[in-house]
Amino acid sequence: MVSKRMAMKTDRKDFMSYALRAMEKGDPTSMMSNEEIMTTFEVLMAAGSETTATLLSGVTYQLLENPNVLRKLVAEIRSSFAHSHEITMVSVNNLKYQLAVLEEALRIMPPVATTLRRLVPSGQGEVVGGHFVPGGMRVGVPAWTASRSPLNFRDPESFIPERWLGDVRYAEDRREASQPFSMGPRGCLGRSLAYAEMRIVLARVLFEFDLKLMKSSKSWLENLKNFGLWQKDPLMVRLRPVIRD
Ligand code: HEM
Repeated sequence: MVSKRMAMKTDRKDFMSYALRAMEKGDPTSMMSNEEIMTTFEVLMAAGSETTATLLSGVTYQLLENPNVLRKLVAEIRSSFAHSHEITMVSVNNLKYQLAVLEEALRIMPPVATTLRRLVPSGQGEVVGGHFVPGGMRVGVPAWTASRSPLNFRDPESFIPERWLGDVRYAEDRREASQPFSMGPRGCLGRSLAYAEMRIVLARVLFEFDLKLMKSSKSWLENLKNFGLWQKDPLMVRLRPVIRD
């Protein structure tokens, strides 16, 4: 994919167009070797597109299975804008319910769901989370387990955006246990971009279309398989354009 993109003649602006332009100009501070380009863009493609796409599929499924949440979100979006071009990286920040919907989708279906291991430095070992761990061991927290544990969340299997909006029934939730972007120096570099993309795409789709889950995708969630990232069946949804005057 990286080689194909490099060979492509296009005016479309993406990450690579900036890297290629800097190289064409011969800017010595921005020169990248072929190897650097390959590895950097491999990471950006896998880390940047698959994760965001998974979340957008997951949130779409959850919304269609939870019509009350969908109704509330659609009302928020359609009452906030008159035209879809008003939906921008800045204006989506006003959609408080949508942000809670996305937080809940990231909790219930973290795109990176398995353990991201960290190595305890060799030597004396370390105390991690109150437990002594000898040096050389790998430790980590699987996001799926932390997110779905009843020790951390009330009704962990239910899709309830209100838990992110101060609903008293969920006051005891340990919201900090949901860390879909991981934490610390190796945490997600693209977190802000991911939020911007998810907020804009979801708001535009729901502004323009009424959605309905097709029967063939009713078991979409049960058919998911995880191999680090998610293996997903196609999510079949009917989109009907909203007619406005
Ligand atoms: C919903 C969307 C996303 C989720 C859930 C997500 C999640 C994560 C997680 C959990 C990590 C940590 C990996 C580790 O600790 O080993 C990570 C790393 C990373 N993410 Fe994301 N990510 C998302 C979107 C993006 C986007 C849009 C980009 C950029 C285009 C991006 C770029 C990266 C990069 C470069 C790293 C490696 C950081 C490093 O090792 O220093 N991610 N992401």
